[in-house]
Amino acid sequence: MKALILSGGKGTRLRPLTYTGAKQLVPVANKPILWYGIEEMVTAGITDIGIIISPETGAEVQAKTGNGERFGANITYILQDKPAGLAHAVQVARPFLRDSPFVMYLGDNVIQQGDLSYFLKKFIQETQDALILLRPVANPSAFGVAKVDDAGRVLQLIEKPKIPPSNLALVGVYFFSHIIHEAIATIQPSTRGELEITDAIQCLIDRKKQVVACKLEGWWLDTGKKDDLLEANRLILDTYLTKSILGMVDSESQIIGRVQIGERSRIINCTIRGPVVIGTDCHLENCFIGPYSSIADNVTLIETDLEHSVVLENAKIVGIHQRIIDSVIGQRAQLTIAPRRPKALRFMIGDDCHIELT
Ligand code: DAU
Repeated sequence: MKALILSGGKGTRLRPLTYTGAKQLVPVANKPILWYGIEEMVTAGITDIGIIISPETGAEVQAKTGNGERFGANITYILQDKPAGLAHAVQVARPFLRDSPFVMYLGDNVIQQGDLSYFLKKFIQETQDALILLRPVANPSAFGVAKVDDAGRVLQLIEKPKIPPSNLALVGVYFFSHIIHEAIATIQPSTRGELEITDAIQCLIDRKKQVVACKLEGWWLDTGKKDDLLEANRLILDTYLTKSILGMVDSESQIIGRVQIGERSRIINCTIRGPVVIGTDCHLENCFIGPYSSIADNVTLIETDLEHSVVLENAKIVGIHQRIIDSVIGQRAQLTIAPRRPKALRFMIGDDCHIELT
């Protein structure tokens, strides 16, 4: 059994963060999204992992993730020269996959721990041609959608339909036997110019191959957009964070609940109410940090009141006395305020940024 994790693509929906980096490396609870998928594979016993990368962000993904040793896996990087679709990525990976059955995992998806092992066992024991996971969602038009009969059998799969036939979205985790390669060889690019994996699975259904759809009961997030990223951050902090304080906390500070503070970070006169994770080498002074916040390494926060937010590496926020909520602050971003009460706002804002003064 092999795994194919897709970490190519363009990441347009997470701009501006993804102008300078891969969307799969954006951290959730201070860990790149991509790594959750790798860890799930290893937990399920799959250690032969291929990762699809793009020419734009591939080097960064490779440098950060390495050869797999840190996960107990063996990682092979596979370059896809253009984001021509999920089925195209499988085609490009054929020399790696050969005729092995495999799990295909979209690198920006996160599913609840343990679910992958459960469905892998089901796939192996019942030796299906394909096993797909479905999940009811409020906005099916943003996903691949399944039309199922009363017995739960899949009749049709449609990619991002304007008028969805159901609210059952295709989760970005698929289990395939080698037969999928034959199906991919028969399909044409869709109207959006991509070789769609949904079309390849549809081809298996039309040929009466064994395609089983299971409902995913645990949580699942496609972290493609800001609010999904914040929700993934909330869920992961809520579910997995344990208390650990390695940095320095002064006697004026109050740490409440599950809080992690990395090495060499200094916390001076702050109140931190967990679940909160703070990386290494941070400086926090006179701050309130509320639940569901993730602060990456080397961040400076002074006189800052923040909750339910993600702050990336080397960012600096100083003197913003209004509460910052539901925010994602990019790497090296600076948010500061003049020492006296400002009469005007002064900005240097990159393309595609969202600033909301509420
Ligand atoms: O998240 C679930 C959805 O994922 C499914 O419901 C859809 O059926 C499926 O098509 C997919 O839709 P997305 O629009 O979310 O796919 P996206 O373009 O964001 O790509 C998913 C991942 O695959 C992402 O990590 C980038 C990577 N990718 C994407 C393309 C198009 C590649 O590595 N190569 C590609 O050519």
